[in-house]
Amino acid sequence: MTDGKERIPYGELARKAIEAAGMSYSPYSKFRVGAALLSEDGRIFTGCNIENASYGATVCAERTAFFKAVSEGVRRFSAIAITGGTDGVGLAAPCGVCRQVMAEFCGPEFKILLVTGKERWETHTLGGLLPLAFGAAMMEKK
Ligand code: THU
Repeated sequence: MTDGKERIPYGELARKAIEAAGMSYSPYSKFRVGAALLSEDGRIFTGCNIENASYGATVCAERTAFFKAVSEGVRRFSAIAITGGTDGVGLAAPCGVCRQVMAEFCGPEFKILLVTGKERWETHTLGGLLPLAFGAAMMEKK
């Protein structure tokens, strides 16, 4: 299913986020997170959380997806779908660090789909989840 105005394939993104959660490496928390990031040119980059015995070395699913895309030269994005839970599907709002990484590459209209179940999601925007984001433009102000 696509959104008429923005041509965002919400259903496909949701399904790919659930699929990505299946790749989660989370032996410590047992909380499986998946993300599917849509670039402006229509490509989808997936990511899962990857934990580490040294807990601080863990990386979230959202950042895995962003870093995969950016490392392949893609920097413009329209939307991300995120899901998580012990069974890999359910409400998993992005952590503060991931919101900040999103703000580095995306504006306030960037869509964030929180996938709450199979074929179920809520839509948010980055501006709504991270108001008054710190960014490069602020450093240029005197
Ligand atoms: N996690 C994510 O992957 N994304 C988030 O935005 C929140 C937390 C992961 C990190 C860790 O592997 C597990 O969820 C529990 O915190």
